[in-house]
Amino acid sequence: MPETRPGRLILGIESSCDETSAALVRQDGTVLANVVASQLVHASYGGVVPELASREHLRAIVPVTREAMHLAGAELGEALRYSHLAAVAVTEGPGLAGALLVGITFAKSLAFAAGVPLIAVNHLEGHIHAVLMESAAAFEGKGPLLAVVVSGGHSHLYLADRDEQGLWRYRNVGRTVDDAAGEAFDKVAKLLGLPYPGGPWIDALAAHGVADRELFSIAQIKQKATGHVAPKLVKDAAAREQEPDDATRFDLSFSGLKTAVRRYVETHAMQAGIAERFEALKAAGLDKAKPRGEALAAALGHFDAATLNLIASFQDAAVRNLVRAAFAAAEHFGAQGMLVSGGVAANSALRAAMTARAEKQRIAIAFPSIALSTDNAAMIAAAAWPKFVAGRFADDTLEPTPQLRLG
Ligand code: KG4
Ligand code: ZN
Repeated sequence: MPETRPGRLILGIESSCDETSAALVRQDGTVLANVVASQLVHASYGGVVPELASREHLRAIVPVTREAMHLAGAELGEALRYSHLAAVAVTEGPGLAGALLVGITFAKSLAFAAGVPLIAVNHLEGHIHAVLMESAAAFEGKGPLLAVVVSGGHSHLYLADRDEQGLWRYRNVGRTVDDAAGEAFDKVAKLLGLPYPGGPWIDALAAHGVADRELFSIAQIKQKATGHVAPKLVKDAAAREQEPDDATRFDLSFSGLKTAVRRYVETHAMQAGIAERFEALKAAGLDKAKPRGEALAAALGHFDAATLNLIASFQDAAVRNLVRAAFAAAEHFGAQGMLVSGGVAANSALRAAMTARAEKQRIAIAFPSIALSTDNAAMIAAAAWPKFVAGRFADDTLEPTPQLRLG
């Protein structure tokens, strides 16, 4: 069994999409440093451009890691040396192949130089540990947990519990059959002249509109699928093969809702001035964080009441869609706790609706702090600790797995 001297650290590296991050985390979940460099180059493209992402990761990975080591060293009251490291953990997938490769290659050489093991982490498991590392106490002694992972690339529901070795096990009980939740936010945002990523903008602007529940009906949301009506067969043959005896699923769909918003925008002639709006918001200075204060006040000047109401109605429908599927699954599987993570878990309306429903159903619920909701390396290091203790190491042939699944 590997040595777990107190005070030792796992260095986590994350580069699966458009964030370059390095973090140092103790076994008890204490984060000594979590440095995240967000790429702004994609803002004008409505989504992440893979080639640009790889180039930016290459540029950022060394300074970001150096800064994390420096910050953690300052915290320790001495220069951080390799001897403090228990292991180097890195995101293996899912993600963009070229982007993952930058992190993996770098992590391999660091692990080799430091003479410590390399640990491969599934990005989706990382998102789950973003919650567990902060809120383990909320789930102490609770049976299976329902983990809701909602980001720009993924919308999954997992049943999670631990085996005798303390390793976490996951069973996928639902996924989106089309767009991911964050993708729907980003596409609707783009349609309305908002920069990428659109989720934080929609979140901030929706608070200034009034949601109309009738605008986007459940029928539109469920255009292609599904949700909460169990049991139901998975459509995709490959997925079915992986889950041969799992006919009860709680799949999600977001493309019907996105299409309904597009149709509404077109039929209500709301497209006028969208290009100018985008240029104005861009000129005002882009920031991936949720716009607030003066930036929000300035942005609000570019929206009329009808558009703000549309934004609020879209967000409300997306949130209801997620709440319905998550709680139906939790009830079906007798989950005693729920954790919500991934970029969309930063959404204030989703947090409020999930929390209210959980209180009503007396189920423990937890979210990551906002900084740990979106992609970061602290969650990768945290997810690596149980693997370190169980001696689950990667070898130096580790390669990116862009389509890596969890459960
Ligand atoms: O987890 P993440 O950083 O990257 C992926 O693994 O995809 O998630 C990014 C996604 C984007 O689609 C972004 O628009 C969305 O999370 N997002 C939000 C909010 N903050 C980020 N969506 C809704 N409301 C937010 N406040
Ligand atoms: Zn992510």
